[in-house]
Amino acid sequence: MPKTIKNLVFTACIGLAACGGGQSDRSAVTTPTIPTAPMLRDQTTIPIGVALAVGSFERASSIRYSPQASQLRNLAAHEFSSVVAENVMKPEFIHPQEDQYNWSDGDYLVKFAKDNGMQIHGHTLVWHNAIPDWMNNYTGDWEAMLTDHITTVVSHYSSDISSWDVVNEAFLDDGSVRSTIWSTHISDYIAKAYLAAHAADPDAELYYNDYNIEAMPKKLDAVLNMVSDFRNRNIPIDGIGFQLHIDRYWPSTTQIRQAFSRCVAMGLKVRISELDIRMNPNNTATTLTPELAELQRQRYRDVITAYLETVPYDLRGGITVWGLTDATSWVTGYYHMPDWPLLFDANFQRKPAWTGMSEALIATP
Ligand code: XIL
Repeated sequence: MPKTIKNLVFTACIGLAACGGGQSDRSAVTTPTIPTAPMLRDQTTIPIGVALAVGSFERASSIRYSPQASQLRNLAAHEFSSVVAENVMKPEFIHPQEDQYNWSDGDYLVKFAKDNGMQIHGHTLVWHNAIPDWMNNYTGDWEAMLTDHITTVVSHYSSDISSWDVVNEAFLDDGSVRSTIWSTHISDYIAKAYLAAHAADPDAELYYNDYNIEAMPKKLDAVLNMVSDFRNRNIPIDGIGFQLHIDRYWPSTTQIRQAFSRCVAMGLKVRISELDIRMNPNNTATTLTPELAELQRQRYRDVITAYLETVPYDLRGGITVWGLTDATSWVTGYYHMPDWPLLFDANFQRKPAWTGMSEALIATP
């Protein structure tokens, strides 16, 4: 969308307090807790995205159910031009029973995004995690079951979601295929998933998404071999999502640049799909000191600069950070140690990390 139109949509939404909420949101909208321009979304024309919690099971951070929901929505709509569901479009949540889909939370996110002139990226159709019990215990025709899931979800969102993570994390770090219910029950399941997604929405951009592919060349070898094989067999795939769950030390920006360049050399689109930068990987810190915050600013700046300098404009699928504020990032729960990996602090305030990202976006159009 051209910038001027996007800004009009945005302004209209804020004016009407129509950011996905009702009467109770109006006071939050009239007492903004967030800074004025320039917002990240206005600093570039590539999608700048954020993963948002929506479901009642993620209540602390949900843009629908959290006590802070209206502030979360306001911050997201101000700063970002793209959203992804942190959880609610995964099979466990969107397809809880074989004969039951739960569209409510996904549809809420889509409406919120559309009301605020934001794009929506779909995450994720096929993964080894977040699988409902009925899928784990399935005894019928597995290929038909997977195809039906993909077809139903992609079709439901075909007019609103223009890009999908079709398969997520199918390879191990050594480049071997991960053993999952899908690899066990369906031969060539990865290719079949892409064919099903393409059949359901021929216009959607289809991504493969994974972690550590920026740091482990053998893992990226496996992904790119898969792409070559797909091309030989006319199986559609458009791009690679680099999750980039990284830390202050690892991996180097040289490694990240090399990995992006390998995709670019094959004409693949590249997304930074789940960016967060842990500042306490060795559990030696108890707070984000000014020194650590400054290091994080530089690290965000360097990673975003690496992306913008390595991936030409037409191949940039955008940059998405995996969560809004440090208070509710998934990493502290996952690694069981304190951390501050995102752009905003627990009080919704921009961190130096935000400045680092902004500096990169402005310096390298
Ligand atoms: C994570 C969510 O952030 C958590 O809330 C959830 O408990 C587990 O999944 N790679 C992915 C994401 O592709 O879907 C994961 O999201 C993080 C790792």
